[in-house]
Amino acid sequence: MAVLVTGGAGYIGSHTCVELLEAGMDVVVVDNFCNSKPEALRRVEEITGKALVTCDLDIRDREGLRKVFASHQIDAVIHFAGLKAVGESSQMPLAYYDNNVSGTVALAEVMAEFACFKIVFSSSATVYGPDAPVPYIETLATGPCNVYGRTKHMVEDILRDACGIPESQWQVSLLRYFNPIGAHESGKIGEDPQGIPNNLMPYIAQVAVGKLKSLNVFGDDYPTVDGTGVRDYIHVVDLAKGHVQAVRKLDKPDPGCNIYNLGAGRGYSVLEVVKAFEQASGITIPYEIAPRRAGDLAEFYADASLAKDELDWEAELTIERMVADTWRWQSNNPKGYE
Ligand code: NAD
Ligand code: UFG
Repeated sequence: MAVLVTGGAGYIGSHTCVELLEAGMDVVVVDNFCNSKPEALRRVEEITGKALVTCDLDIRDREGLRKVFASHQIDAVIHFAGLKAVGESSQMPLAYYDNNVSGTVALAEVMAEFACFKIVFSSSATVYGPDAPVPYIETLATGPCNVYGRTKHMVEDILRDACGIPESQWQVSLLRYFNPIGAHESGKIGEDPQGIPNNLMPYIAQVAVGKLKSLNVFGDDYPTVDGTGVRDYIHVVDLAKGHVQAVRKLDKPDPGCNIYNLGAGRGYSVLEVVKAFEQASGITIPYEIAPRRAGDLAEFYADASLAKDELDWEAELTIERMVADTWRWQSNNPKGYE
């Protein structure tokens, strides 16, 4: 089976390429490297001892995509390529709609031209919106409250609609990720954000290596276990394995659209993550309590039982493994892939 992985050089994409290659699948990556480095793919090959095909290409380039499909027999697509910063998305909404929504339309059109109708899409827990009760379950009403979340929601609708046309051959798996952290246990690939990280785990890791001075904890007055925000952290390798299962499931002959939460099904607070990281690394993380960050929710976590029932997948790796693997990656590569 040959899988086209858009955004395959990115954080989740690179870990998924490892799992696909180790599962014996052929991998073709399309990435324009706007938020990643080719070195990540070189390291994927080093970890697995297997080669993959790399195409330096923007998914909005239909002609370029046609050449990729014409020169490789692609059975399915895992579609990671997109912009992902919630704050930035409200500053540059048109760039987000163009990249994430128009990019997916271009990709799906070219797929259909080449009679490739199987796609796994990176959606997000953010589509549930601020009013959803926890745990989030796939049947809840959605209502994202930021531009990034709306791009994910629109793509979900577009792919679901493609499944709805008469005699549609589309087979779609919409994966709603919770909070991926961690790194491959080799310490060779991991999250390498540009500039100052927006997300908790890379921020803590950069404080630990001395790149940043101190963590700002955004709010300690939420109605949670210790007042700090609670999230469902999932090891990126578990998440990658979820994609292998999702793509395998599409190998069955039933068309249609399925939605799966990929989370661990339990939450940890900011301070619990800090403590776990300190224990794994032996380094004290200085932090200050700061005001709440606009748009943040107090607490959310997944009901991931549907993925367990239908994809035969569940998150296995503990928070201790998540922080230990993050630390190995960050301490081995204090400057990321540079
Ligand atoms: P990432 O930025 O590390 O990876 C995205 C990759 O896509 C990068 O390699 C980037 O260069 C590439 N890319 C972006 N636009 C492109 C385009 N137009 N053409 C070709 N390549 C393009 O992000 P990630 O954390 O690996 O996330 C992967 C996907 O999962 C994204 O769609 C993201 O929105 C989604 N997601 C991420 C999280 C998270 O917390 N990391 C949570 C939920 C959903
Ligand atoms: N936090 C801090 N300090 C920081 C960064 C984060 O205290 O420097 C806190 C946040 O307030 C929150 C928790 O750590 O309580 C997690 O924050 P992240 O930024 O790591 O993650 P979010 O839950 O805000 O968002 C992530 C992805 C989004 C995605 C969402 C749901 O970044 O793209 O999960 O899947 F939409």
